[in-house]
Amino acid sequence: MSDLTYVLRQLPRTHDANLLVGDNPADDAAVYRLSDDLALVQTVDFFTPVVDDPFTFGQIAAANSLSDVYAMGGRPLTALNIVGFPITILPAQILADILRGGSDIAASAGVTIVGGHTVDDQEPKYGLAVTGTVHPDRYISSHDARPGDVLVLTKPIGTGVVTTALKAGVAHEAHVSEAVRWMTTLNRSASEAMMATSAHAATDITGFGLLGHLSDLCSASGVSAILDSEAVPLLPGALEYARMGHIPGGTRTNLDFVRNRVSVASGVSDLVLSLLTDAQTSGGLLIAFDPAGAEAFARRAGPEVLAVQVGQIVPGTATAVRVTG
Ligand code: CO
Ligand code: CO
Repeated sequence: MSDLTYVLRQLPRTHDANLLVGDNPADDAAVYRLSDDLALVQTVDFFTPVVDDPFTFGQIAAANSLSDVYAMGGRPLTALNIVGFPITILPAQILADILRGGSDIAASAGVTIVGGHTVDDQEPKYGLAVTGTVHPDRYISSHDARPGDVLVLTKPIGTGVVTTALKAGVAHEAHVSEAVRWMTTLNRSASEAMMATSAHAATDITGFGLLGHLSDLCSASGVSAILDSEAVPLLPGALEYARMGHIPGGTRTNLDFVRNRVSVASGVSDLVLSLLTDAQTSGGLLIAFDPAGAEAFARRAGPEVLAVQVGQIVPGTATAVRVTG
């Protein structure tokens, strides 16, 4: 059990018939029914800078925050800025640039930023509290993946190792800009295509890495999965930086956490395993479809959506993911 799970278990459980999704840590956002055909989707996320440029950081943080609403098939409408900033130490222009980056992404998503809150903080932090809507019968959760489903991933893996290499000053500019391009890409098109093609379950890939989020999805759905490590798309440079040892702390924690929840084929190296658990920022959606749904999704998804089949759901309740090579 993680420290956070231990803390959350001590809180009183909410009993509200209109809270359709909210209790399970595997869920990306809360869903609260307002009427028979309208539910709220609510989520919040914020973190410390992953890139040096403040505007780009604002873009990435905003895209990441909106992602949880997209993962549930919701439409984000409004957002509040959440900011920690050392206002007496760093120039105010840096904060202005972070917020401009956030506004830029919000505008491109059709989301209105309606306010926010800033606290004095030694280390800058930024993100959004997002409110959206979804039909109360038609949201996508992590609970309904079924044996026989195909797993589709919509962005490449490796933002953790690439940004760690960037902090170490060894990342190639082309690799960084490709990682940034994906981190600032909204999961909106993927979400819309998913809603049009009858997905069974979905989650977005963020801090727990591909394997961590997949094993949570399996646990929530009461199924197991087979992940084909060779099919997983990687960012350019990711393998190289992982080999050089630029593994973020969160990735190491993830690897320890999933070790007893996954069985790994002998052909899969620890290096590959570290990428499969790499802590992602603003990662793609991982979606479970029946095979026809996966084909329809690939046809429908726009050019900014990868639609790569990385594995399948199999019967089982042990939440054990089998990684093949
Ligand atoms: Co999420
Ligand atoms: Co989140």
